[in-house]
Order: sequence, then C-alpha cells, then structure tokens
Amino acid sequence: MAEENHERVVIRGLRGVAAATTRISFVDPLGALYYSGYNIDHLVDQATYEEVIFLLLNNRLPNQAESDALKSQLFSAMRLPKPVVERIKSASPTSHPMEVLRTEISHLGEFDPEPEDMSDEANKNRAIRIVAKVPTLISFLYRTRTGQEAVAPIRENSFAENFLYMFRGQPADQQERIAMERYMILHADHGLNASTFAARVTAGTGSDLYSAITSAVGTLKGSFHGGASERVMKMLYEINSIDEVEQYIQTMLDDKKKIMGFGHRVYNSEDPRSKHLRDIAEKLCHQKDTLEIYNKCKKIELTVRDKKGIFPNVDFYAALVMHALGVPREFFTSFFACSRVTGWTAHVLEQYSDAVLIRPTSKYTGEFGRKYVPIEKRT
Ligand code: COA
Repeated sequence: MAEENHERVVIRGLRGVAAATTRISFVDPLGALYYSGYNIDHLVDQATYEEVIFLLLNNRLPNQAESDALKSQLFSAMRLPKPVVERIKSASPTSHPMEVLRTEISHLGEFDPEPEDMSDEANKNRAIRIVAKVPTLISFLYRTRTGQEAVAPIRENSFAENFLYMFRGQPADQQERIAMERYMILHADHGLNASTFAARVTAGTGSDLYSAITSAVGTLKGSFHGGASERVMKMLYEINSIDEVEQYIQTMLDDKKKIMGFGHRVYNSEDPRSKHLRDIAEKLCHQKDTLEIYNKCKKIELTVRDKKGIFPNVDFYAALVMHALGVPREFFTSFFACSRVTGWTAHVLEQYSDAVLIRPTSKYTGEFGRKYVPIEKRT
C-alpha cells in the first residue's frame, strides 16, 4: 500500500490536467476564447447576452422566437422569494456581498418549485431561474445597504441593462448599455476555471444545481480568482499618481508579491478578454477621475509587461469598467458572479449528462505505524 502511494505523481494545482470533456467553451493558450465554437471576438460586439445564455445552455444560437422566449422567461424569473428578500435585509452590514450571495443561492434552493425533478428539462429551467435571480439579489443587496428603494426591472430592457438599472436605479446611457452587455458576455464562461471545476465536482456527486452554484460562488470569491478585480481597484488607489507606477510595481516584484489582475494559468499571451475590456474602459473613462485611472492602468500594463513579461487578465480592466459604471469596489466580484453563473449552470448540466463522480487521489506524505497513546499519558 505504502509502495503504491510512493509511486503516485502529484500534478500540483492540477496544472495542465484535463479533468473533463466539454463542448461549452475552449480556452486557447495562444490567446483565444471560444463559446461553443464561436470566437468571443465575434460574439462580444454582435451577440446579446441572452443569446450567449442560450448558446451556453443549448450548444447553439437561438432563432428570434427562441431568443424572445428566453428573454421573457428570464424576466418572469427575476423576482426573489420573500424569505430571501427578508434574509438579505437582515444580513450583517459588514458582510461581503459574496458572503451574502453564497448564503442566498443556497437559500433559493429551499424555494425551488420542483426540487425532486432532476430531468434535463427541469434542470435547464432551474438554470434559467438561477441566472435570472442572481443580478436581482445583488442589486437588492446594494440598494438595501445604501438605504435605497428596490427598483423593478423593465420588460423592454435587455437583461444586462436591467441589471445595471436595478443596481443603480437610473437608466444607463448608450455607452453604458453597450459596456454592460459586453462585460456580461466576456465573463459568461471560461473553460474549467476553479469555480466551474468546483461546481462540476459538486454536480458529479449527483447533488442539486443550487449546491453546485453555492460551491462555485465560494470558489470565485478568492483573490486568485474572481476576487482579484477588487484587489486591482485597491492597488489603483494605493498608487497616487502615474509617476509612482514604476516604483510601486518594482517594489511588488522585488517583494515577490503578485500583482493583481495579471498572469494566467492557461494563457501564454494576452488574455483575449482583456483587449475588449480595455476598449470598453477607454470609451467609458471620460471624466477627469476615470481618465486619470485609465492612464494609470495603461502605464501599469506596460510596466508589468516590460519588467515581468506578463499580461493583464480579465480582472484588470474589468475593475476599471466596474468603477466607471459606478459600481463600488466590494461589489466587483459579485458582478462577475452575475455573469459567470450562466457558465456554471451550463457546466453543471453537462456534468449531469456525464454522470461521473470526480474523485482524484492524493499522495500521503504523513507517517505510518504511529502508536495510539491514551490521552492521560500524553505530555
Ligand atoms: N504578479 C507577479 N508575478 C506573477 C503574477 C502576478 N500577478 N502572476 C504570475 N507571476 C509570475 C510568478 O511569480 C512566476 O514567476 P517566476 O517564474 O519568476 O517564479 C510566473 O509568473 C509563473 O506564475 P505561476 O504562479 O506559476 O502562475 P499560476 O498559474 O500558478 O498562477 C494566477 C496564475 C492567476 C493565480 C497568478 O497569475 C496570480 O496570482 N495572479 C494574480 C491574481 C489574479 O489576477 N487572478 C485572476 C486570474 S483570472
């Protein structure tokens, strides 16, 4: 037994390990991202977010009638159950939005209308209901925290536009509408990233969709994953002016600290999403404050590239987009979750169809043969 253990090869961090087959998305290390075969470079400025939801859940784009039907289904499902509303109101005012989201996704499971039905159709409908409710949940949390009335969505608005409207309570202008739509498309899925893997592990045990999404939310929260965007904003405030960028970055690198919003496990070159987010940020940043931060970001990007040869990932310019849209820093990761929940649900449905328990092994590095000493004889 110990012999077999010694021979086990550990792939630290599962780097490069293919742990599932998928038709949902492909992350090309050379710097491209595909959703069900479509390059995101083409989807980002042509597709709607609703089309992307349909695509990820069905592996094909919808026709007009299907797209309209999905839009209507999403709109009808945006409302939250009353106990969820009450729980959000009573959440600790100092808790992080991702903590509230983690709890309330789980709480939503209690109010599922057909909890025993695990058919494909029931799970797809369940997925759409969850995707619909997450932006409402985050918007309501923000409005409650800031002492503002909840705002109801408008049927004619797109899903992304409604999210921003419910959150901020004011209609978005044309530029903001485009920014929000593209932000959500770009964040919808990304291969077997850590939170998606967590969702698939939970689904692989045969557990329900709410449990899988709860696992994913907890995983996204970490600062090496979705939590990075909040840390990017912190860094942007720590650097007082563009003249301080070089020194700040050099000190971070000398201290062997990670620069948030940079580097990626899969991409060897630029994250394909970051050029779009940079472009969106540039279009949004016209105010004195945001223009200054935009220029600071560009300088950071060039400095990190020169000094370390690494590129921004999705979280770097996403932080600036969120800031320019008026989203407070502590809500950045939850905005990410509002979009990524689409990918999570799609992967959970795919995992159900594969129906395999994901259960790797580990290499034991502890001792063997230790003798049990009764507690009263231990020093
Ligand atoms: N800042 C500074 N150096 C970084 C870095 C960063 N953000 N990301 C990677 N590196 C360096 C590592 O120090 C290492 O350098 P070395 O070879 O001189 O030791 C090299 O690049 C390889 O990095 P490694 O830690 O092996 O990459 P990883 O695949 O384990 O980590 C991340 C990937 C995303 C966890 C890592 O890049 C990171 O922590 N980034 C910051 C957090 C972030 O933005 N997360 C969002 C990801 S979408």
